[in-house]
This record gives sequence, C-alpha cells and structure tokens, in this order.
Amino acid sequence: MTYRVALLPGDGVGPEVVAEARKAVDALGISIDWTELPWGSAYFHEHGRMMPEDGLDTLQSHDAVLLGAIGDPSVPDHVALWGVTLAIRQRLDLWANLRPCRLLPGIPGPLAGRGPGDVDMLFVRENTEGEYAGAGGRAHQGFAGEVALETSVFTRAGVERVVRHAFEVARSRRALLTSATKSNASRYGYVLWDEVVEEVASDFPEIRVERVLVDALAARLVRDPGSLDVVVASNLFADILTDLAAAIQGGMGMAASANIAPGSAEKPGVFEPVHGSAPDIAGRGIANPCGAIWSASLMLDHLGEFEAARMLMGALEETCHAGPRTQDVGGVASTAEVGDAVAERVARG
Ligand code: IPM
Ligand code: MN
Repeated sequence: MTYRVALLPGDGVGPEVVAEARKAVDALGISIDWTELPWGSAYFHEHGRMMPEDGLDTLQSHDAVLLGAIGDPSVPDHVALWGVTLAIRQRLDLWANLRPCRLLPGIPGPLAGRGPGDVDMLFVRENTEGEYAGAGGRAHQGFAGEVALETSVFTRAGVERVVRHAFEVARSRRALLTSATKSNASRYGYVLWDEVVEEVASDFPEIRVERVLVDALAARLVRDPGSLDVVVASNLFADILTDLAAAIQGGMGMAASANIAPGSAEKPGVFEPVHGSAPDIAGRGIANPCGAIWSASLMLDHLGEFEAARMLMGALEETCHAGPRTQDVGGVASTAEVGDAVAERVARG
C-alpha cells in the first residue's frame, strides 16, 4: 500500500525539521507518495492568501499531512494562523490534538531531581472550539470606546467527544484521567465541561478520574509530573499547559502533536511539532528536529503502521540517548546531523 502524504513545510524552521522527518520516514522503506505544498507566508506575499482556495480539498485527498510550522514576522500572526493551521483544524474538524510528553533518556530536563521515569503524560487537547472558536467581533474600531469580544464556545457534543476519547486512551495507559477546567471562576462553559466529564466517567469505571483547576494543575506539572497520566483540557488551557509540558520534556524542540478526528478514517490527520516557526533561529541549521520526527511517528501510528511507528520512535530515542543532539538539548549537532543519525538507526533496524 502506498500512502499519500501531504508535506507542508511552511515557514521558519518548518522546512528544516520536516526534511529530517521525511528522511527518517523514508529510511523505514514504507511506500509513501509525498506531495509538497508550498503554502505559508511566502505564498501569502505572492497570492494574498496563505493557501489556495481549494487547499482543504487538496489535503482531504491525502491520507495524512506532515506540517512544519506556520508564522513569519512579515504576516500578522492571526492572519497567518487562521489562514492555515487553525483553518485546517477547524474546517477538517480535527477535534482532538494529542500531545505526548515524555522526557527521553539523554535529554536534559529542567526539574531538579526528576528524570525520565517521572515524566510520561499524554495531553488530549480539545481542538476546534472553546477559546479558539473564532466567535467574537470588534465595535467602534479606533475610537476610545472600542470594544473587542472574544467568546468561548463549548458545546455538549464537542466536549463529550474529546472527553470520551481521553477516557479511551487512558485505558491503554495508567488509567488515570485528569480533567483541567476553571469552573470556580467561569460559570458556564467549564461547568458544562465538568458535568460532561462526570457523565462520561460512568462508562469507564476502570479509569480513575480527577477534576483539577487549571491553575493548580500548572503548579502540579512542575512539582509532581509523575502524578499525571492523561490530561484532557480545553483548547486554550491545553495550549498553555503543553508549552509547560514541552519545557519539562527538554524544550519546545522535543514536543510532538497529532491533530486527528478519531473514528473518521477518511479524514487526514495533521501531524506537527509544537515549536512553531522559530524565526530567530531559522536558516541556521540548528533547529531540533526531534519534535517533527516524533510527530512523524505519531502519523505512522495513525496510519496503522504500528511497527514502523515503533521503529522510528526507537531510533529517535536511541539518538536522544547516545547523540548526536542539537544545542537546545545539550549537544553541538546540526539539524541534519540529528536527522541523519535517526535515519541511519532506522535503516540498521
Ligand atoms: C500550538 C500553537 C498554535 C495554537 C498557534 C500557533 C495558533 O501554539 O499548536 O500550540 O495556539 O494552537
Ligand atoms: Mn501552543
């Protein structure tokens, strides 16, 4: 079987890290037909939009999408991100964003006295609504009385599907689910969220579930990450928590993600490192490709290539352990040297 994978390198360090992820996947010897899509900020300057009008149709005709990063100082962030990243998540209805957080042996972690054995979490981020619903508006623009409204949208169906998925993934892990909200201060959306968690929990008696306020959870992530297994949270809360989690696993360069619609086999998942385009280090060949390679492993898993996914992850873990590593994780290697090392280990089996 040949998989059709759309490669969307994007901006900044995106092309640099995605090239290494592709190299590592190709070394596995699975048959992939890559389509490279030159969308992003350069495309915007040429065409006045971040991707073509039929861009989503193009993505739909693929089995998966490997995305580098979108964002460049020359395009306002909200234009760039609503033009590609957020448009794709919303309009393909990729409602779950899975973000594994593990401190891999060999990668220096920032928490004193904590090692790889203490950091193994999976964040399940609601990916289409909440604070990212895009609902709101501005009135009296430019006047002293200007008003901006940004409305969080929580639907019962939207919360239930992501919460249910989090319970399901908790089954194949340590069977602990932590749901993060702020239902002491917010009276509507997060109260609904808590109620849905309570209801869905009754279908999963084998899962221990706890409701934690997101501020307290932030502290607990630093103080006692080992006490967390699966964490489910709204779009914005999980966005923030997963940057903190990335720091705990060695930095943004290590963090991977999968945007998926569980149960909808016809929809392509979008797999992307969490770090963004990092324009400050773009073009220097020093970006850490681990998050992108890890994301490629999540992609293979999602395609049902479990053995290949496991091999790629194994090669990545071995490389983190034995080197080479990039500067951000204590090494001296270039992006390509790390990618080459992973590809070589993959090829060796
Ligand atoms: C992420 C990113 C995006 C988000 C930005 C770039 C819009 O931070 O994937 O975490 O907030 O979702
Ligand atoms: Mn983020």
